[in-house]
Amino acid sequence: MRILLLTHSFNSLTQRLFCALAARGHELSVEFDIADAVAEEAVALFRPELIIAPFLKRAIPESIWRHHCCLIVHPGIVGDRGPSALDWAISERRPEWGVTVLQAEAEMDAGPVWAAERFPMRVARKSSIYRNEVTEAALRAVLTAVERFQGADFVPQRVPGLAHQMMRQDDRSIDWSRMTTAEVLARLDAADGVPGVADALFGHPCHLFDAWPETTLQGAPGALLGRREGAVLRATADGALWIGHVRRAGGIKLPATQAFAEATALPELPLPGYWKSPTPTWQDIAYEEAGGVGFLSFDFYNGAMSSCQCARLTEAFRWASGRPTRVIVLRGGSDFWSNGIHLNTIEAADSPADESWANINAIDDLAEAILRCETQLTVAAVGGNAGAGGCFLARAADFVWVRDGVMLNPHYRNMGNLYGSELWTYLLPARVGADGARAIMHRRLPMTAAEALALGFYDACLPGPGFAVDVARRAAELAAATDIEQQLAAKRARRAADEATKPLAVWRAEELAEMRRNFYGFDPSYHVARYHFVTRTPHSWTPRHLARHRDLDWKIPA
Ligand code: COA
Repeated sequence: MRILLLTHSFNSLTQRLFCALAARGHELSVEFDIADAVAEEAVALFRPELIIAPFLKRAIPESIWRHHCCLIVHPGIVGDRGPSALDWAISERRPEWGVTVLQAEAEMDAGPVWAAERFPMRVARKSSIYRNEVTEAALRAVLTAVERFQGADFVPQRVPGLAHQMMRQDDRSIDWSRMTTAEVLARLDAADGVPGVADALFGHPCHLFDAWPETTLQGAPGALLGRREGAVLRATADGALWIGHVRRAGGIKLPATQAFAEATALPELPLPGYWKSPTPTWQDIAYEEAGGVGFLSFDFYNGAMSSCQCARLTEAFRWASGRPTRVIVLRGGSDFWSNGIHLNTIEAADSPADESWANINAIDDLAEAILRCETQLTVAAVGGNAGAGGCFLARAADFVWVRDGVMLNPHYRNMGNLYGSELWTYLLPARVGADGARAIMHRRLPMTAAEALALGFYDACLPGPGFAVDVARRAAELAAATDIEQQLAAKRARRAADEATKPLAVWRAEELAEMRRNFYGFDPSYHVARYHFVTRTPHSWTPRHLARHRDLDWKIPA
């Protein structure tokens, strides 16, 4: 079928549906929901048999839904209607939630139901539930709805429903003197990553994000007790909570200690153990060992890796490679493996060009440390989405095992035509050949885990459920292999031979010469693209590689 995806943005859920529907042979085009007239034009050009709206912030105009079947993906159970569906479900700590695919009509979310899925809720942030449970459920429900639509004998049913209001900041407000850690966490989780909870720090209004409960430290409710890396610790009525990120009025989302210079006066509360705290606490880098395998996790907010985070992770990796293990697994974070350099901290720097330069060098140091590791086999276990430099950083490991369902965006071009580094020019052709490398670097579309495997870009695609257990088992088998010493010797020999042919330093210098032009050259595309990305500027047009109906050679179907 010809299916038009009408969406606010090409977010990870839309990308997942795009890839799954394309794999089933449907002809797809995408239009961003910018204005009624633009959507009407897209429909006139593409003549879709079906319209799917995975992520909308406004209603579809009647001029479209009257004449075309439009399926809306609503992140709520059957009968739930209105905005802030997930926000309400999380703040009410519902044990179960779901996704409903319903037909657009005049009343919002009240049309007939084509398919629905349910899932048990986790205690987690809205953004995490959206990227995991909601995305998986939406995929199943949309595929069912599309099949039913094609089958022609399914009659979607109307169901009675209850509409809730848009959640306002009043509904989200925190009373630090009275509320417990669990209560505050439920509010912050329900608002992460958009819109955050309006509050104040150091007497200045700001929105709070990225909260972690603290189990051992306590103080006068509401008081700021200390800081650790980018986060500040604030006391609640019965404990305390780390706030990792904030957005000041008129500003962008930043690590709390970067947004507020006042935070430097707070006492530093270092992790009570080297890379591993004995009790749960805020910790963006963590290390543990089992069965001859070292597991290094790096749960950086939104998968963005600042200069400082890259330097700390490189230090942690070097430390881990000094341990008596035979395998190191780079686990990344729970929702993202890595999205490359930290565009927000770059934007906020006095000189974004200098900070871009520092950040790309810091991430290259990490890639080099992984590549030069002689004492362990390294595995990148990509259990969360990865984008741009993050996809290539993973390739620095000897093996890349990716979870089925992960969305990869292994390209830099969408960020103002960045050339990219992370030693991709050395790593990629060796895996996929020169033509394959060119094809990957020139595509702008997302890639599924299965595609990455088929291209030879990554080495294994493991089923979603049980990924962590599977990775641990495979890594332990690798570490216990009888020929592990020969494998390590072969790895050292390969690296030495490659170094003799062309030193890593030369590969890196060539890439960085291109990046220097991106950061300091006369073409400001990267700086402009980064500014729009971090300030979440609304789209004013749909990129041509997505809006196929706007291709010059597109022929309006008969
Ligand atoms: N630096 C800072 N923040 C980043 C980031 C980065 N490199 N990559 C993603 N984010 C943030 C987004 O701003 C967004 O923030 P929010 O919580 O305020 O909404 C959040 O992560 C999620 O990103 P979003 O784009 O909504 O997620 P997605 O899953 O739909 O898309 C990507 C994923 C990777 C395609 C997209 O985030 C992207 O293009 N990131 C930039 C990658 C890049 O160019 N890195 C620099 C070159 S190495």
